[in-house]
Amino acid sequence: MAERPLDDAVERVLAAFREEVGRGVSSRSEFERVKGRFLGREKGLVPALFVQLKSLPPQKRASFGARANAAKVEIENAVADLASDLERAEADSRDRAAGVDVTLPGRRARPGGLHPLTLVRRRIEDIFLRMGYSIADGPEVESDFHNFEALNFPPEHPARDTQDTLLLDRKARSPLLLRTHTSPVQIREMRRHGAPLRIIVPGRVYRRDEVDATHSPVFHQVEGLVVDRGISMADLKGTVTTFLGELFGRDTHARFIPTFFPFVEPGMQVNIDCFICRGVGCRTCHRSGWIEILGAGMVHPEILAAQGYDPERYTGFAFGVGVERIALLRYGVDDIRHFYANDLRFLRQF
Ligand code: DAH
Repeated sequence: MAERPLDDAVERVLAAFREEVGRGVSSRSEFERVKGRFLGREKGLVPALFVQLKSLPPQKRASFGARANAAKVEIENAVADLASDLERAEADSRDRAAGVDVTLPGRRARPGGLHPLTLVRRRIEDIFLRMGYSIADGPEVESDFHNFEALNFPPEHPARDTQDTLLLDRKARSPLLLRTHTSPVQIREMRRHGAPLRIIVPGRVYRRDEVDATHSPVFHQVEGLVVDRGISMADLKGTVTTFLGELFGRDTHARFIPTFFPFVEPGMQVNIDCFICRGVGCRTCHRSGWIEILGAGMVHPEILAAQGYDPERYTGFAFGVGVERIALLRYGVDDIRHFYANDLRFLRQF
């Protein structure tokens, strides 16, 4: 009966293993201990069975080997199952610790959007790019020369008043200021490029205004300038009417009312019939039926001459439009401050 203890050795190992597993393996350290006890290469009980195998008489080896192998497979499989159970339990507890509830439905990521002022600016650029204009820009810190003098503002003109203009350096030969409009870029572009010229200039402008529902000390304009031979009022009217039609709808009517700007002659204010009430009179148009939308005019011949053009051969027109004003009207926004507050509840609507 010499083989009994050895047969029992396989049984004993299996029984010991089942008992360990039956007691439950719930921690990583417990798992490592059990795995080492049975499968450890040096002292593991399973490898030890194969050492014992070598001391058996040859005729016993086959059956013992088969039983030992079956035990080894059973134990290895069970250990692999324990390992994956343990990993799952560890991941769960990591998620719980991180406050992750994997059963919650996912949260959809909201894509960002463009700011309404950017949308309006791009829309304006788009319309003029299609008409063959290029986009120019100029400095926001500007000289008194470009902002006023070269545009025919006489020295005592009220617009130069420090009430309106934010001065930076009044001692400079041409005092530095924050540009009050985009018109100075007209001068820069005429000097740089000569004719023909067909540009728009979107940009930021500054005025010393108190903030209220319709005023901000920083706002945006788009300037337009065309200089070429034979440019007439008809070109100005056609261009501005087309632009306003693209922006507010083809059935928009524009009217041109003479007014004064020092750098144009004649100068005009352009109104459109109110697109809310179609001219009947409402809150948006202050009951007048008309909305003031931009300033425009034929470039003053003296300004053309001062930039080196022969005003007998070259003529031009210019216009300036407020981006905020268009955005307020187009989107029906009642307070300019919404555009600068960056409140997502407002911005998400565009
Ligand atoms: N620069 C003027 C302003 O800020 C707007 C303007 C009026 C621009 C007439 C022009 C123009 O080019 O021709 O109020």
